[in-house]
Amino acid sequence: MTDNIKHVAIIMDGNGRWATSKGLPRSAGHKKGAETLRQILETAADMKIPYITLYAFSTENWQRDKAEVDYLMGLLRQYLNSEIKEIEDRGARILFIGEREMLANDIIVKMSELERRTKNNKDFTLCIALSYGSRAEIVAAAKKAAILVAEGELKVNDIDEKTFSNLLYTAGIPDPDLVIRTSGEQRISNYLLWQIAYSELYFTKTLWPDFSAEEFKAIISDFNSRERRYGKV
Ligand code: FPP
Repeated sequence: MTDNIKHVAIIMDGNGRWATSKGLPRSAGHKKGAETLRQILETAADMKIPYITLYAFSTENWQRDKAEVDYLMGLLRQYLNSEIKEIEDRGARILFIGEREMLANDIIVKMSELERRTKNNKDFTLCIALSYGSRAEIVAAAKKAAILVAEGELKVNDIDEKTFSNLLYTAGIPDPDLVIRTSGEQRISNYLLWQIAYSELYFTKTLWPDFSAEEFKAIISDFNSRERRYGKV
């Protein structure tokens, strides 16, 4: 079933609306969203999807109320300290993309430790976008290229799509085949702009806390039935 899918990128949206619709604080939506995440990661591991990338926190999310940011950071700490162990035990290599210097020091230390500890795991790769914004990633890659040219380590004529891709946070990770966004919003929100040039997009109205393993599997089946032509006939 998952023969031809290598990489699924997910935008987990709708936690706040889920909570508000039930008269609960937004934090309750994030908490339920974290449970959904656990279920979906287990399903993806069962399906042997080689790469999953999650949008856990965008650079724009820093502008939310301090209380909400603090709550999300608390959930993240909990996630990195305990829950991620299950996924690690299933053979996941864990990577982080984004501007990690914006995060608290203990979180940065934990992220590096997880990356180091799981770097030889081969079953699948879980890539977590944290404090991530795609335009910033592209600008950072352009700066890296400029520095390499200035230092004489790269020739301007050798800058092509492949060398540029290798300067992005996602160097070495295949481009997503499929992007799933929950909650009915039909936009990309500064997520993997370079990497999704040829990705299939799937928007579902389901709010992330209500997203299920069944719906995830149905979306993957739908993807497997689409024909991708990459601009050719
Ligand atoms: C979008 O919902 C979700 C987020 C900003 C955070 C995603 C976090 C989780 C799924 C929980 C797990 C968390 C971590 C950090 C591991 P929203 O708040 O934008 O919802 P809304 O659009 O309805 O307001």
